[in-house]
Amino acid sequence: MKSNTIVLLDEKRVFKPSVETVERAHVKNWENEIEKGKDFEKYWEEKAEDIDWFQKWDKVLDESNKPFYKWFVNGKTNLTHNAVDRWINTEKRNKVAILYVNERGDEKKLTYYELYREVNKMANALKNLGVKKGETVSMYLPMCPELIISLLACTKIGAVHSVVYSGLSVGAFVERMNNAKVKVLITADGTYRRGKIIDLKKISDEAMLQCPTVETVVVVKHTQNEIKMSELSGKEIFYDRLVEGEPAECECEPMDAEDPLFLLYTSGSTGKPKGIVHTTGGYMVGVSTTLKNIFDIQPDDLYWCTADIGWITGHSYVIYGPLLLGTTTLVYEGAPDYPDPGAWWKIVEKYGVTKFYTAPTAIRHLMRFGDRYPNIYNISSLRILGTVGEPINPEAWIWYYKNIGKEKTPIMDTWWQTETGMHMIAPLPSADLKPGSATKPVPGVSADVVDEKGNPVPLGTGGHLVITKPWPAMFRTLYEDEEKYKNVYWNDIPGVYKAGDMARKDKDGYFWIQGRSDDVLKIAGHRIGTSEVESAFGSHPAVVEAAVIGKADPVKGEVIKAFLILKEGYQLKTKLIEELKEHIRYELGPVAVIGELEKVDSLPKTRSGKIMRRILRARDKGEDVGDTSTLEE
Ligand code: WTA
Repeated sequence: MKSNTIVLLDEKRVFKPSVETVERAHVKNWENEIEKGKDFEKYWEEKAEDIDWFQKWDKVLDESNKPFYKWFVNGKTNLTHNAVDRWINTEKRNKVAILYVNERGDEKKLTYYELYREVNKMANALKNLGVKKGETVSMYLPMCPELIISLLACTKIGAVHSVVYSGLSVGAFVERMNNAKVKVLITADGTYRRGKIIDLKKISDEAMLQCPTVETVVVVKHTQNEIKMSELSGKEIFYDRLVEGEPAECECEPMDAEDPLFLLYTSGSTGKPKGIVHTTGGYMVGVSTTLKNIFDIQPDDLYWCTADIGWITGHSYVIYGPLLLGTTTLVYEGAPDYPDPGAWWKIVEKYGVTKFYTAPTAIRHLMRFGDRYPNIYNISSLRILGTVGEPINPEAWIWYYKNIGKEKTPIMDTWWQTETGMHMIAPLPSADLKPGSATKPVPGVSADVVDEKGNPVPLGTGGHLVITKPWPAMFRTLYEDEEKYKNVYWNDIPGVYKAGDMARKDKDGYFWIQGRSDDVLKIAGHRIGTSEVESAFGSHPAVVEAAVIGKADPVKGEVIKAFLILKEGYQLKTKLIEELKEHIRYELGPVAVIGELEKVDSLPKTRSGKIMRRILRARDKGEDVGDTSTLEE
């Protein structure tokens, strides 16, 4: 168990929803909706009616081959049809679908009709490149309209997309590309970050030297980092050239509910990153229902989720959820504090954002600048706020509630994972809230807190967070690794999904998530596995072996602390420290924030050679190291 993230909160405050919030809400009584969701197959079947199906399902849930569940068996549909095409013949045709804004103040709007045309052109272009149903296309792109268009073009023709977060660097990038055997990569000349342009093409060029399956690289001209045509290699083509002259009509590929939709790599506690496989039908039902109810999406909303599309939050709740509901989604490229810490509130005021969804780390960061910045702007358009990615400490919750929500806007603390695809533990706007608690499982979802054997623990006691019934947006397997899928998630505690988090439940049935139980770090809400960081250190010539733990950080939640065995003759002095930091940045990217490095002569290991990070964590905090009977040296 990772002890540094376990804080047994004793938070007693309860915040009731305002009358206006409840009156406006789709779901006016949270507890009633939870009751309805207990008959979960019926509940999700009803919700599936909100999606257009080309052919209806024969059966809602097939549990005959656990844990390989199937939802909406034999149903046929298409995500792009539901997210874009179906709105063209409604009053939403000329409504803004995507409002792109960046830190320079540039803005681009795409209506549903414009998006429809752009997606069709790109879908036709991908077909011309030879991309077929079931083949993988990867994106290494900033937050930009072309990224969204490309994803929807893939789902239109049944290609599987695999986005690599643009904050990851060469090593992590190559690993993800090669595992997925990617045929086409879409990248850009750069991304804007704090007044600078980060050259994504350069990183992608280096990665491509090691990615033999890629046949075509499409380059989006996004920044002023102008790349000339003459600089492109034979397999590279500019995006605008590629789509030029393509027809603006393209038929949707009829997809089986269980056809793969996308891959998204995420870090686990051991080995290489895992390719999480999501499928078509259930994902749409789960994501659209949760967004509609939790953020109470209404026709006049302007919805903004600040997550990057390179992570699951961006997939489910920047693009797919909002577009499936026909709402306007604001897509922002830039940092929260550039050009100043009022940047986000300025956008809220300018566009009249009504729903705002971000990460606790961003709130903690902005909190440091006090209430001055939010007070400069009129942000009274906000009606619902959300958080995701890591536990929110009550102090940050209260700051967010007071200074951004002005004590009238409820905060939806949403617990979920790349694997779950959709919100799993979260309130609805009509719920009573307790700062720091994600409240209860969403209607239609069942969760519990259990011991190692799967027995529920007494209320108030910490245990493993498990999901006890299948849910529609669940991942279906790990890419080409069914064994690992079973072993990591389903076999440890039989019959239930083990989330890898510790939690406790209070007397009112509210869940308090305490942090990961495994060796996964959460750095500024980004998920990164210790083993991935260790192998990146290990590939530096000065390092013999590395062990990595998370160290608590007041803003980022956790940062990396590495214990290093160095080769003979190397000292951990300024020059090497800088070099190691640069090396990790090159291999993994800026997400891997290093807090501290320590030179050691040996590492605590079990007899079978596994690093005992528990001991390192205890030692680091000056605590008793506990049971060391399995320690080898
Ligand atoms: C953590 C992000 C507490 C948790 C959507 C989980 C949270 C991991 C919350 C998944 C929350 C996410 N409260 N912890 N509201 N939301 N987590 O796959 O440890 O990047 O297992 O998905 O983030 O991270 P992932």
